[in-house]
Amino acid sequence: MTTTANSNGGTSTTDLAPGYDAGKVRDAIRDNLWLHFTQMQEFADPEVRPLILTRGEGTTVWDVEGKSYLDFLAGIYSVNAGYGRTRIAKAMMAQLESMPFVNPFGYASVPAAVLADRLGELAPLGGNARVFFTSGGSESVETALKLAKQYQTARGYPHRWKTISRRVAYHGTTLGALSVNGLTGSRALFGPLVSGARHAPMSHRYRCPYCKDAPACNLMCYDEIERLVEFEGPDQVAAIVTEPVQNAGGCIPPGSMDYFKKIRKLCDDTGILMIMDEVICGFGRLGELFGSTYFGVEPDVITAAKGITSSYAPLGAVLVRKSVADAFAEAPRDDLPEPVNAAREWGFQHGLTFGGHPVSCAAAIANLDIMLEEDLPGKAKEMGAYLHGELQAALGEHPNVGDIRGAGLFLGVEMVADRETKASPDKSDVLEWMSDKMLEGGVILRNDGRNDPTTQLCPPLVVTREECDQVVNVLAECFDGLAKRLGTVGTQHPTAAS
Ligand SMILES: Cc1ncc(COP(=O)(O)O)c(C=O)c1O
Repeated sequence: MTTTANSNGGTSTTDLAPGYDAGKVRDAIRDNLWLHFTQMQEFADPEVRPLILTRGEGTTVWDVEGKSYLDFLAGIYSVNAGYGRTRIAKAMMAQLESMPFVNPFGYASVPAAVLADRLGELAPLGGNARVFFTSGGSESVETALKLAKQYQTARGYPHRWKTISRRVAYHGTTLGALSVNGLTGSRALFGPLVSGARHAPMSHRYRCPYCKDAPACNLMCYDEIERLVEFEGPDQVAAIVTEPVQNAGGCIPPGSMDYFKKIRKLCDDTGILMIMDEVICGFGRLGELFGSTYFGVEPDVITAAKGITSSYAPLGAVLVRKSVADAFAEAPRDDLPEPVNAAREWGFQHGLTFGGHPVSCAAAIANLDIMLEEDLPGKAKEMGAYLHGELQAALGEHPNVGDIRGAGLFLGVEMVADRETKASPDKSDVLEWMSDKMLEGGVILRNDGRNDPTTQLCPPLVVTREECDQVVNVLAECFDGLAKRLGTVGTQHPTAAS
């Protein structure tokens, strides 16, 4: 490919790839490419032009026409170290030249071993954790679920096969991961799903059925998890799966800092594995290297992907507490039933050809070095607080803003039609319109409609104050436009007066 930068910072439309200009790339998208979660028929209309991004630097990306955008979605919550990191590209190239691939079924590459060693110490899992690599987030969740079931069998509990996760939460698309998803729409077309997947209410302070009008979270959302464990039978539950800050629904932290500590204790008391899905919240996003640390808990298993390589290469990881991994090597005994001995004798019965690809692991090592040397988690904490404050100042009183929430650089602004009643606007009225307006203003971010409509801000962790200011201004204008569109009465942002 011979892509070149042109004078306005974009790329030439005539040499995107040999024989392909922008028009021919669009034709290929219209006729051949299948984008994820996308109705491809939309592109049959020549007026509907897919955004084709060809270059990035820091937080800025350029499309094929040379227009620049601030990427406040960081790819898809994932380009944590920002675009244009030559150091990661060079590390990948060096690995490609020396050893492009090593079979992970019993063989090891140097980068996979080094990365496991480093993450095994850094993860909040009690030290010396074991790491099983995958090639992405769904595979990490899928792997963690199978690992939990085999672990429970190895401990002597072959009937612990149920899982508890939360409603509305997104944990991936493969059938196991989809089963723990709490998104009714995503699950609807693919049943029957993996049996035993149970769902508790989420912890969502702004709309909590138990405490939304109380001065503080009363943790009844946690009580629901405990009740579900009791109802399902603690000796039948293998794992509880949660995200530190729930993505679907719009960056929802638990209502209380004690929420995860209570889940930790429940797991300790019952032998259930505590799985933290840090596919988004890991690798600096919340202001700590791992999202669990933000909430002061050490789970048993952490699932990771996305930011692990800042998305320069596909990689996922399942980080496992040593005592859990050790159960897979317990000695078989004659008095134990067959599945228990099999679970101990055979090692973890799971594998993926591309899990822990050496080039991806080399990218992850370079990414980790950058994160630690530049203290990107610290930057996320500082810039997240700044962005949160600016959003509050610009939009805190806006009649169409119900809630501003999140942690680190993972923030949500929930749209309402009425602040008093918290009524949501019709999704079809607002989501696409807001996204288009923001794109017009040069900002990419997600207007999430999986629960009540919420604008999500999740920039690369290298984002600057000026970039935050720019996006807050665009957002304020968009919300003022939304107020006009919805005919909302009440206090308008000053810029709406003009
Ligand atoms: C929390 C969480 N888990 C799992 C996944 C699935 O990751 P992937 O898309 O890499 O399969 C995602 C994706 O957004 C996620 O946010």
